[in-house]
Amino acid sequence: MIKVQGVCKSFAGEHVLEDITFDIASGEIVVLLGSSGVGKTVLLKHLIGLIAPDQGRVLIDGVDITSLSEEGLLRVRKSMGYLFQEGALYDFMDVFDNVAFPLREHTSLSGPAIADKVREVLKLVGLQDADRKFPAQLSGGMKKRAGLARAIVLGAKILLCDEPTSGLDPIRSRDISDLIRCVAKKIGSTTVITSHDIDNSLRIADRLILLNESRIVAVGTPQAMRVHQEGFVREFLRV
Ligand SMILES: Nc1ncnc2c1ncn2[C@@H]1O[C@H](COP(=O)(O)OP(=O)(O)O)[C@@H](O)[C@H]1O
Ligand SMILES: [Mg+2]
Repeated sequence: MIKVQGVCKSFAGEHVLEDITFDIASGEIVVLLGSSGVGKTVLLKHLIGLIAPDQGRVLIDGVDITSLSEEGLLRVRKSMGYLFQEGALYDFMDVFDNVAFPLREHTSLSGPAIADKVREVLKLVGLQDADRKFPAQLSGGMKKRAGLARAIVLGAKILLCDEPTSGLDPIRSRDISDLIRCVAKKIGSTTVITSHDIDNSLRIADRLILLNESRIVAVGTPQAMRVHQEGFVREFLRV
């Protein structure tokens, strides 16, 4: 489903990603784990073509998105949902309109069909009673839920979540993590989550990819990572 092959990326001569290679299977939930500033967001943006690699390729369903035109890229992006770290909701729109926005932009669904779809996804994320609230009236956790609803409203064969627990307390962090897993499995998304939240990552991931100093240092299931022999991995995961 997703193949990253030999991706390298530098900014102003500074290596951020070096020779990054991994595959993600259809329906899998993978967490990209690593310290702040290691390049998790940069890597996630490569998967949706918001950043192009200096070297290497990114294949989505066999299509090399690094060689697509802007138009081709837009087509691929329609099958992807992206939950931004800050939620990225439109402040001047209520929750309903925020979630309806991708449907109005990218489909020819009728008003009632849009309303049905929006209600369905708001129910899925537990926001069915908050549809007329504006972002300023939402708690941090509710903003993430609304962002998740908007990310999946077009279907999201691939769901990308950037630091979904950042800025949340431990209980809300756990809730949104569990919700992402539950929603991803329900709609069958192939899901990539960036995080430095170790406990929640180990709980919800099918597999984890640990980054350090621009490179992948470990890949494995939560069980395998917990008994990893490498010193850095044990130290990072505090196992
Ligand atoms: N558009 C950009 N231009 C220049 N440097 C960038 C850009 N995006 C990210 N970086 C740099 O790349 C590094 C990795 O950033 P990022 O992927 O945001 O880290 P993380 O998400 O792991 O905290 C940082 O040093 C950051 O300053
Ligand atoms: Mg980041």
